[in-house]
Amino acid sequence: MKILTGIQPSGKLHWGNYFGAMKSMFDLQAKGEQMYMFIANFHAMTTVREGATLREATRDVALDYLACGLDPAKTIVYRQSDVPEVQELAWYLSCLTPMGLLERCHSYKDKMAHGFEATHGLFAYPVLMAADILIMNADLVPVGKDQKQHLEVTRDLAQKFNNAYGEIFKLPDAYIPQSVATIPGTDGQKMSKSYHNTIGLFEDPKAIKKKVMGIVTDSTPMEAPKEPEGNSIYELYRLFATPEEVAKMAAAFRAGGYGYGMAKKALLEAYHRLFDPFRARREELARDPDALEDILRDGARKAREAASCTMEKVRVAVGL
Ligand code: ADP
Ligand code: TRP
Repeated sequence: MKILTGIQPSGKLHWGNYFGAMKSMFDLQAKGEQMYMFIANFHAMTTVREGATLREATRDVALDYLACGLDPAKTIVYRQSDVPEVQELAWYLSCLTPMGLLERCHSYKDKMAHGFEATHGLFAYPVLMAADILIMNADLVPVGKDQKQHLEVTRDLAQKFNNAYGEIFKLPDAYIPQSVATIPGTDGQKMSKSYHNTIGLFEDPKAIKKKVMGIVTDSTPMEAPKEPEGNSIYELYRLFATPEEVAKMAAAFRAGGYGYGMAKKALLEAYHRLFDPFRARREELARDPDALEDILRDGARKAREAASCTMEKVRVAVGL
């Protein structure tokens, strides 16, 4: 089973990204699955327009993943742009892609609704994503719910290609773990960089404290018993704490005399317990940019081997 996933370097990673996407990847890695994880810097160009920003964000995502548990000895990690063959495959797929298929994509319509400029890059985004997946012959693609349609487009394009040129591509499946909850942000709605309600994985500890202490709560007085389910602080605490600690907090809320301020402090402590070692590792990795570059180059070399193997067959099939 070959598993591949990509992440756009288009903003600082936050708690929602960790518990919603990164953690399930590390669990798969621990099971010994064959994994590819790449940083989708070509895709990020649809929204990031500054070279220095893109370069830094690409590096930051790599550092974040490595610090939190990505093991380059088990998972092949690379920058999308280090496998330029994906652009070539994207063109071949483009020539088979009906306009209507892309016009129906929610992500494009959503970007238009949010006032983004209607560029060809944004429109053709799903074709490049299909190329990322098909070039590596991935079986399974862990993604968030919002990417489900892009996986349908990928399967559709693989099928069209196979119908035209012969059986070259596998039809990959999306992997959307049902157990992954929607992580709430500081205002109670889904944590997302677009809503400005995120808590970054490696923000300055003072800023994290301020955000945690500022999580929006209702105004039930401290003495009153409270229902923990559905409360953002409790929902976030659940992610970090042990089952015994979670049960203890739930009981304290229900008994009354336990205020939101106390729960926020417990949450902050639980965050530090998990993330302080990751932060130390990140600082260590950041001190040696050459070592990071070596990891990414090594990943790219392995990824390119797989990509070249696919492209040799593809070029013959299309008549080049
Ligand atoms: P954002 O919403 O901040 O733009 P992305 O869309 O870039 O985040 O998400 C990257 C990955 O992180 C996706 O797999 C997505 O499902 C996951 N993710 C992001 N925010 C959350 C959240 N609040 N709860 C659960 N998963 C999330
Ligand atoms: N579109 C994905 C996202 O925004 C990122 C991505 C690009 C991707 N290419 C991919 C994910 C290939 C999985 C496989 O989250």
